Amino acid sequence: MKSLKDKYGDWALITGASSGIGEEFARSFAKEKINLILVARRKERLDNLSEELKTKHEIDVIAAPIDLIKDNFLNELKTYVDNREVGILINNAGFGSNGEFVNNDPQTEADMVRLNCVAPTILTHHFVRPMVKRGKGAIIFLGSVVAFQPTPYMTTYSASKAFNSFMGDSLWYELKKYNIDVLSLNPGGTETEFQRIANSSTGPVPRTAEQVVNTAMNALGKKPSVVDGSINKVLVVASRFISRRLIVIIAGAIVNSLYKKKRIKNLS
Ligand SMILES: NC(=O)c1ccc[n+]([C@@H]2O[C@H](COP(=O)([O-])OP(=O)(O)OC[C@H]3O[C@@H](n4cnc5c(N)ncnc54)[C@H](OP(=O)(O)O)[C@@H]3O)[C@@H](O)[C@H]2O)c1
Repeated sequence: MKSLKDKYGDWALITGASSGIGEEFARSFAKEKINLILVARRKERLDNLSEELKTKHEIDVIAAPIDLIKDNFLNELKTYVDNREVGILINNAGFGSNGEFVNNDPQTEADMVRLNCVAPTILTHHFVRPMVKRGKGAIIFLGSVVAFQPTPYMTTYSASKAFNSFMGDSLWYELKKYNIDVLSLNPGGTETEFQRIANSSTGPVPRTAEQVVNTAMNALGKKPSVVDGSINKVLVVASRFISRRLIVIIAGAIVNSLYKKKRIKNLS
């Protein structure tokens, strides 16, 4: 069987590699002896991870401390990538918010769309063209279980994740003729820094970042889309049998009750 390196190329670029699922992707590709370009804002975290993976796996690792919300982020990134051939792109960086849209900070909501949707679009377009020329490559988009139904109180976030999920599924079809594998990876509540930033919770049965990445590695090249975890899979399949109106009402009631509990806890 071909190694990931033979199948896709020598270099993987991972956004949001300074923690959580992105960091776990970095560890997983490093084990496969794939060189890494790690992107996130926190330089020290990226530098520490780079040193660790270089020493442990004898690979090249480049830390690219970049804010993907900035307008000119691609020019900055190009100086780190130089002429390296990126064969694997992991569009992972993202954040969420929780609460009534009307009370949320509009700048934060717009930044969320820039990071979760605009940055993957720009990155994918930039890196896919050389992949097409080389006739191989892989791209992963981070969706979520909330990508499968509009989710009140996580309104912008669930819309942004639906964007990623749709991008992944559609590009899986468009790019398969060029021998490029595309996957939308849809985790449910996973223990990372996400919950602290989004002021949300993982729910009763959290998954680990390692489990999520294993799910992705097993699905890449085999299917367009995967939901991580059997409980999450059941919930997503069940939602297909309910009307859109009802699923929004149910999702809203669940998130509102979690959000209320958290608000009361924060006040006490
Ligand atoms: N955890 C969950 O329950 C869950 C469920 C479904 C989907 N997801 C998705 O999984 C992906 C990874 O999230 P995670 O759970 O691993 O959360 P996380 O631990 O908070 O990681 C988010 C990563 O994104 C980076 N990032 C944030 N803002 C950035 C910016 N402006 N520019 C560049 N990088 C930025 C962060 O690094 P810096 O702060 O250093 O920039 C960090 O490395 C996200 O797309 C999220 O939507 C998560």
